[in-house]
Amino acid sequence: MSDRIANAQLRGKVMSAEEAVQFINNGDKVGMSGFTGAGYPKALPTAIAERAKEAQAKGEEYKIDVFTGASTAPDCDGVMAEAGAINYRAPYQSDPSMRNAINAAEMKYQDIHLSHMGMLIQQGFFGQLDVAVVEAVRIKEDGAIIPSSAVGNNVEYLDSAKRIIIEINSWQSEDLEGMHDIWRMPLLPNRVPVPITSPGQRIGSPWIDIDVDKVVAVVETDAPDRNAPFKPADEVSEKIAGNFLDFLEGEVAAGRLTYDGYIMQSGVGNVPNAVMAGLLDSKFENIQAYTEVIQDGMIDLIDAGKMTVASATSFALSPEYAERMNDEAKRYRESIILRPQQISNHPEVIRRVGLIATNGMIEADIYGNINSTNVSGSRMMNGIGGSGDFTRNGYISSFISPSVAKGGAISAIVPFASHIDHTEHDVMVIITEYGYADLRGLAPRDRVKKMISIAHPDYRPLLEEYYERANKGKFHHTPHDLATAFSFHQNLAETGSMKG
Ligand code: COA
Repeated sequence: MSDRIANAQLRGKVMSAEEAVQFINNGDKVGMSGFTGAGYPKALPTAIAERAKEAQAKGEEYKIDVFTGASTAPDCDGVMAEAGAINYRAPYQSDPSMRNAINAAEMKYQDIHLSHMGMLIQQGFFGQLDVAVVEAVRIKEDGAIIPSSAVGNNVEYLDSAKRIIIEINSWQSEDLEGMHDIWRMPLLPNRVPVPITSPGQRIGSPWIDIDVDKVVAVVETDAPDRNAPFKPADEVSEKIAGNFLDFLEGEVAAGRLTYDGYIMQSGVGNVPNAVMAGLLDSKFENIQAYTEVIQDGMIDLIDAGKMTVASATSFALSPEYAERMNDEAKRYRESIILRPQQISNHPEVIRRVGLIATNGMIEADIYGNINSTNVSGSRMMNGIGGSGDFTRNGYISSFISPSVAKGGAISAIVPFASHIDHTEHDVMVIITEYGYADLRGLAPRDRVKKMISIAHPDYRPLLEEYYERANKGKFHHTPHDLATAFSFHQNLAETGSMKG
């Protein structure tokens, strides 16, 4: 048995995943650790999937509701979705099998702001949570746990669940101990201000204390986190990074930002990761991150001495960088803090530190409304994640995207966004490889020209035609021609290209 389990009572609870899954019943609400492909339970999801398949073979039902931090990985969301083991899932996912199951209505999914999830559980919105399944690096003598590569909603799930299953993963470095900062927000009506005034501030403890008597099983694992590697930067993402830097330089020239005053939030994704690579050669120094995930690009910025501190709730590292983190966690914990996602994404702190939010998008419309989640209004891609938390509350909110997807068949700039996650009221700057549209201070019709200027040249005449047509209507504040507002999406459905 692993010497990572220092509590005597919990040493007596060690068992296999197949035994532990007997504590998870049909219809249970299960809160799991995991945020991106990091810190999720490695053994129980497969045991749950197997149990569902066995039940189905006998003509019985075995389905559970699963809550996590955010997305997980193929050996968590993937296996459970493929086995048809999930009834309801929240607050975020990005797994291809799960995405298909959601879009085929084989399971229910609620796409929830990441800062809200823990609070909704704590305040009883979902009723009683039955089980918490949480991965940890180590159990201390007193039973407190050291979380692994993600904190997510672990605290809220461990506090709220009737039963607790802990997975101790020996693949995770024990040197992660000291990287976490666990602080609990008192429940309503006793809330207090979150006492964080700068990204590097620690306000809590490096462990999560738990009710040891609720622990029904401890399962030992030795399995890696699984994030897909990022796509290498290409010409388009390098141009986007260049335009993003031009925007930042403009802010410095205007006296609204200093070269050592950039506080970053960066969304998950290939393009945001490429933007971080662009910052390596920039004039910006002492960059700080108050963000939700640590991606490869941030590790490079830390190693280059460009980033002094990164506060997040999780890693989203490629396999190569995850290995590096495991080898050098002792060094990285000097400059990385992992917090509960209620705190990493807290509106109060985000507004106070004055960060610049930068996230990917599916499409933007000519007035600056953003669709982050639903392709052609109906097909769920991943979810809103933390983009709403940071966009609504950041000092500056920006979105970055290639101007086209799927070889040019899809324009990222459309007449009317087919689903709106971030409204024109929250969105300040949109950046493609053709430049940036700074929408701050502009009335809707003054935004149109700027938005069309960053669209792909093939789509600019079509967008201009649409705006001309929209202007023939009676009202001119936010002109739309409702009959053709979704013509781009209709063309895509009928011909396979938004050009028609
Ligand atoms: N229509 C259809 N597909 C689109 C699309 C569109 N308008 N825009 C992008 N895509 C597809 C791309 O083709 C690509 O597909 P592929 O993997 O099959 O090649 C995929 O979406 C990813 O796009 P990419 O251009 O590589 O950008 P990305 O990795 O930055 O992801 C989002 C873009 C929108 C999917 C991603 O940013 C996201 O899920 N955002 C919502 C959550 C979020 O913002 N979280 C941030 C807080 S951490």
